[in-house]
Amino acid sequence: MKTILYYNYGSPDVLKCEEIEKPAVGDHEVLIKVRAASVNPVDFHLIRGKPLFVRLMIGGLRKPKITRPGFDVAGQVEAVGRSVMQFKPGDEVFGACRGAFAEYACVIEDNLALKPANSSFEDAAAVPVAAITALQGLRDKGGIQRGQKVLVDGASGGVGTFAVQIAKSFGAEVTAVCSTRNVHTARSIGADHVIDYTREDFTQSGQRYSLILAANAYHSIFDYRRALSQDGIYVMAGGGWAQILQTMLLGPLLSLIGSKKMRFFIAKINKNDLVLLKDLLEGGKVVPVIDRRYPLSSVAEALRYLEEGHAQGKVVITVEHS
Ligand SMILES: NC(=O)c1ccc[n+]([C@@H]2O[C@H](COP(=O)([O-])OP(=O)(O)OC[C@H]3O[C@@H](n4cnc5c(N)ncnc54)[C@H](OP(=O)(O)O)[C@@H]3O)[C@@H](O)[C@H]2O)c1
Repeated sequence: MKTILYYNYGSPDVLKCEEIEKPAVGDHEVLIKVRAASVNPVDFHLIRGKPLFVRLMIGGLRKPKITRPGFDVAGQVEAVGRSVMQFKPGDEVFGACRGAFAEYACVIEDNLALKPANSSFEDAAAVPVAAITALQGLRDKGGIQRGQKVLVDGASGGVGTFAVQIAKSFGAEVTAVCSTRNVHTARSIGADHVIDYTREDFTQSGQRYSLILAANAYHSIFDYRRALSQDGIYVMAGGGWAQILQTMLLGPLLSLIGSKKMRFFIAKINKNDLVLLKDLLEGGKVVPVIDRRYPLSSVAEALRYLEEGHAQGKVVITVEHS
C-alpha cells in the first residue's frame, strides 16, 4: 500500500510517499481502507520534532520512532481483530489512529465510531481531533451551560469552527473571535456575535464571559482573566507557545486566587465522544467547515498550508484507491 512516512525530523519536505506492506491487524484493532484523513497542527509538531519536549513525549530524541504521520481518519472496515465486537468488514467508520496518511491504517476499536450516515468520508475525517478538542474543552473543562455567554478565540480554524457549533448545540450565547475574512463564516456557523480581532480587542472591551475557549490563544493569561465574569472559566486548547507555557504555569496559581478558573488541557480521543459527535452531525447541529482538499501525495503541501496558521476550517486529505 502507499503511505506517507519520514525518517528524520524536519519541515514537511522530509515526507516521502512509499509502498509498504499493509499493516497486520492486532486483536483489538480494525484495519481500515482509508478514504480520507485530515491534518492537524500536532502532525507538523511531530514531524518537526519541535518543540523539543515533543521528542521526549514520543521517545525518539535524534530520529522519530513513529515514522508514519496522521491521526484523523475515515474509511471502510477491511478486517477486524479477534477481540473486536463492534465493527465488521464493510462498515463505514471514522476515528483517530497512527499512520492515517496511507491507503490502509489500523485503528484501536475504542478510537472508532460508525461514520455519520449523512456525512462524506471527507467530512467525517475532518472531525475527530479538532471536534473532540472543542467538545472536551467546552463540556469537560469549561462546564458549559445553556444560556451562558461563551467566547471562542480563534473561531475560524479547525478547533474553532467546531467549538462555535458545539457551544451553540449546548444552548450557549456564542461570541466568535476571528479576522475580517472569516466574519461571514463565523456567522454562517451560528455565532451570535462576531468580533474581528484586527479591529477590536475583546479583552479591552469591558464585556465579560462565563466561559472562554481559546482554540488559538494569542493574548496574555491576564487579558483572558480580565474578560471572565465572576466564577468564569478560561480553557486553553492551543495558540502561541508563550501562552501555553503561561497557562500551564500560572493557570493553577491564578485559579487559587478568587473564583475564576484558568486551565490548559490535552484532548483524549474516545468512542463515546465520537458517537456524540456523530449524533450532532446527523442532527445537522454540526457541519464540518472544509477549507482545502489535497490528494495523499500532497500531504506535505497540506501541512505547509496549515502551518501558515490561517486555515479556514479543516484541511482534508482524500485517498484514492486504484
Ligand atoms: N490541547 C489539545 O488537545 C489540542 C488539540 C488540537 C489542537 N490543539 C491546538 O489548538 C490550536 C488550534 O488548532 P486548529 O486545528 O484550530 O488550528 P488551525 O486550524 O491551524 O487554526 C487556524 C486558525 O487560527 C486563527 N488565528 C490565527 N491567529 C489568530 C489570532 N491572533 N486570533 C484569533 N485567531 C487566530 C486563524 O484565523 P485568521 O486567519 O482569521 O487569523 C485560522 O483560522 C493549535 O495550536 C493546536 O496545536 C490543541
